[in-house]
Amino acid sequence: MTDLTGNKIIVVGGSSGIGFGVAAAALESGAEVVIVGRSKDKLKAAENRLAGTGRVRGIAADMANEADVVRLFEEAGGFDHLVATAGTPPPNYPIGETDMDFVRQFVDGKLIGAVMLAKHAVGTLNKGGSMIFTSGINKDRPPVPGGSVVSAVAGSFTYFARALALELAPTRVNIVSPGWVDTEMWDEIVGAAKSGYFEQMGARIPAGRIASPADIAPAYLYLMQNAFMTGETIHVDGGQRLV
Ligand SMILES: NC(=O)c1ccc[n+]([C@@H]2O[C@H](COP(=O)([O-])OP(=O)(O)OC[C@H]3O[C@@H](n4cnc5c(N)ncnc54)[C@H](OP(=O)(O)O)[C@@H]3O)[C@@H](O)[C@H]2O)c1
Repeated sequence: MTDLTGNKIIVVGGSSGIGFGVAAAALESGAEVVIVGRSKDKLKAAENRLAGTGRVRGIAADMANEADVVRLFEEAGGFDHLVATAGTPPPNYPIGETDMDFVRQFVDGKLIGAVMLAKHAVGTLNKGGSMIFTSGINKDRPPVPGGSVVSAVAGSFTYFARALALELAPTRVNIVSPGWVDTEMWDEIVGAAKSGYFEQMGARIPAGRIASPADIAPAYLYLMQNAFMTGETIHVDGGQRLV
């Protein structure tokens, strides 16, 4: 088992879904964890669910807001690994019907937010630490129609990490790219239709089922612990890119 004793980890997006799974796994591995999200209620509920597994606390912040990001790192203090899983449902309109305000909000929350996290993390990220951002299967298997924006944003993370890994060395920068994962985001996107979508996709992909956050979390822990991994994108998609 990964041993993260003595490490402090900030998980932006840790109040739900994949981020919650990373927070739970990091706590089980002995780390101290700070979970971050916009909603104080969601953070409190997540803290309660994680209570008893280790040292966890929530800090409410919007990664699309630079003042929030500055305050986040001031409040969190020195730390060892930054994980960003935060994101909101992507735009899904055909390109001719694109709602530009929605697109800007999405890009702000995901890509600009990641740039701001990196910008302000460097001041308090301990030597030997790393940053791990999250892309996703939509860059490899774009939803059609409507997948162009999420595909462009997710794809950009691979190149963000490669450049940042050079600039920030020896700090390491990596990406996890999940396939479909059963999280709260899907409830928001498709509601009650979720189980039907998952059954169909589960039957198509080599792994034979949709992932849970616990299937994805070990990739983040591996990237924290392997000091020789940097500038890399790890795909954890049960073979979804192959079908
Ligand atoms: N689930 C999948 O199938 C899947 C597959 C591939 C890639 N991904 C990507 O993985 C990421 C996480 O997805 P998920 O399914 O875990 O979603 P989720 O369950 O909806 O969790 C998203 C988390 O991010 C937080 N968040 C959202 N916007 C934020 C912001 N601007 N600042 C700070 N925190 C913010 C949310 O809390 P608040 O709402 O309180 O802010 C929540 O904690 C997304 O970027 C998604 O695109 C997901």
